[in-house]
Amino acid sequence: MSQTECETVPVELGTRRYDVRVGAGLLARAGHEIAPLLTRPRVAVLTEETVAALHLKALRNGLAEAGITLQALALPPGEGTKSWPHLARAVEWLLEAQVERGDVVVALGGGVIGDLAGFAAAILRRGVRFVQIPTSLLAQVDSSVGGKTGINTAQGKNLVGAFHQPSLVLADIALLDTLPARDFLTGYGEVVKYGLLGDAAFFEWLERYGPALAAGDRALRQEAVRRSVAMKAGIVARDETEQGERALLNLGHTFCHALEAATGYGGRLLHGEGVAIGCALAFELSARLGLCAQEEPGRVAAHLAAMGMKHRLADIEGDLPGAEALIGLMGQDKKVVDGRMRFVLARGIGEAFVTDAVPPDMLRALLEDALADRRR
Ligand code: GLY
Repeated sequence: MSQTECETVPVELGTRRYDVRVGAGLLARAGHEIAPLLTRPRVAVLTEETVAALHLKALRNGLAEAGITLQALALPPGEGTKSWPHLARAVEWLLEAQVERGDVVVALGGGVIGDLAGFAAAILRRGVRFVQIPTSLLAQVDSSVGGKTGINTAQGKNLVGAFHQPSLVLADIALLDTLPARDFLTGYGEVVKYGLLGDAAFFEWLERYGPALAAGDRALRQEAVRRSVAMKAGIVARDETEQGERALLNLGHTFCHALEAATGYGGRLLHGEGVAIGCALAFELSARLGLCAQEEPGRVAAHLAAMGMKHRLADIEGDLPGAEALIGLMGQDKKVVDGRMRFVLARGIGEAFVTDAVPPDMLRALLEDALADRRR
């Protein structure tokens, strides 16, 4: 891969600034990319078994090109790994591997590994640096950038964690080739979210090129990842700890978290699928509240449908609880402040804003109609 094919998106956070490198073939170049960060030529890699089988050898070879050796711990795949027992195992393994304060931990995997490894790095010896090598589309466009790390507990998702920014992110577009179609599309839910929340021209671009990039066009995939990361980098640089603007990244997420809880955080509904359905509901609610034009929700749903994505409650298999129970689950969201639910709504495509002024009867009616649609 030539240097010109790889693009760099900086995340401007002063002394903690870092680059997100986006391009095909970065795994093979990992040694050259990571070497400037190292005080000695070795890294500790946290990964998961499926990803390790596909990509660990290529990372080992890429690091060896620059004389860097690796030790790796492969955890089980799946959301269950983002938990206290696996965090303890990861931290103890890093200590046994004699990772020092000046060393670098590498997270090779999707969002689960990135969040867990980032948190392990945050608390190991009061903080060591880490590099994200995201292997899923969702991790490349969202979770590997911005420094949110953590685990789930019995009380809910992501309730324990830390802001700990990576020192480098290597988003190798070629790794997306190995993703099953459903896993690719769940990440695409987060890509669409960026257009919907703040960039109407990007949404239009996705309407035009989304099907071709889903079919495998690498140049289009790279452009979608680069634009998504650039939007996120800008938001994170302005509002690292989510005091304001960063909350816009939660478009669709209040609905999504309730639906994930209702479906058991498993294969019935993947996170990005919930985000896509949540975005469609957020636009429907915005239109009903007279905030955006009546045709906007239809345009959002049409694009998601054209991509073959879940976009309605009717697309979720099996039983769902009633509207009241879903509202109860929405109330468990981290974003509840002083008991008031906060929503990200929109004045149009690309114009999202945060509000806690959603009349409860409007919310209930929206969900009742969406649930009734399932019975048709
Ligand atoms: N995934 C939302 C955020 O990073 O703020």
